[in-house]
Amino acid sequence: MVTVRAPATSANLGSGFDVFGVALDRPADVVHVERAAETTIDVTGMGADFIPEEPMDNTAGVVAEELGAPAHISIDKGVRPSSGLGSSAASAAGAAVALAELYDRDLSKRELVRVAAEGEAAVSGDAHADNVAPAILGGFTVVRDDGIERVAADLSLVVCLPDIVVSTRDAREVVPESASIEDVVDTVGSAATLSIGMCRNDPERVGRGLEEHLVTPARAALIDGYDAACEAAREAGATGVTVSGAGPAILAVCRDDDQRRVASALVDGFERDGVDATAYRSRVGDGARVL
Ligand code: HSE
Repeated sequence: MVTVRAPATSANLGSGFDVFGVALDRPADVVHVERAAETTIDVTGMGADFIPEEPMDNTAGVVAEELGAPAHISIDKGVRPSSGLGSSAASAAGAAVALAELYDRDLSKRELVRVAAEGEAAVSGDAHADNVAPAILGGFTVVRDDGIERVAADLSLVVCLPDIVVSTRDAREVVPESASIEDVVDTVGSAATLSIGMCRNDPERVGRGLEEHLVTPARAALIDGYDAACEAAREAGATGVTVSGAGPAILAVCRDDDQRRVASALVDGFERDGVDATAYRSRVGDGARVL
């Protein structure tokens, strides 16, 4: 039996739509695998009732098929599905790392990212390695067709998950199909600022670098309480706030000393609009690891 802890992740970070991702040190899924003649899956934990256990409908099952590594896979979900926190990516990443270890496969982490991304693609129909890359490699990642850049970073983050559902399909449909050159220039400036901030563990630059005026406002409109939560977080010291992945979770960056205040402010902000929410005080974390 092999057990792996696979982290939640936050994709996009505002200015890096479909490109940037970051591993969070919490929450996480825990994936157990045992050799078996054929793959079976059971899921417990957060949102387990909504996750298919049929292997070819579950990212972990597709990963087992890709690796030719049949197993009984138990997934204890700490990352709520459809949260914007890379829930299916955590299971895919956890399964890829666990099965490679169980079957002693000589694959690099980057090869495992590719396998986990296949799992995501088969199940969601839309493959973005911006969640599986940080879920396996850890740190801050930049995913492009020609490869993945990664840097370890140490920063305080808060993710806040409101108790509402936003359909991923809706969140993709509101993304504008074109952009003005002014918006492109603005977004490139933010993305560059954020990347430098990550390399320097600088919450000011990372916070400013989340700023983006194309995708984020369109998605924020789908999240009840978003504006109130952002305003409260900024008043409490957040250096930047944005939608995490496709939402509805929100990601805030802050200085270490402000983290507790920012977490409470986000929850209070949502509550002001009548939305219950849970905040996780987190940091940029490691990728999936064998326990
Ligand atoms: N970049 C993706 C999105 C993340 O924002 O839709 C979810 O796969």
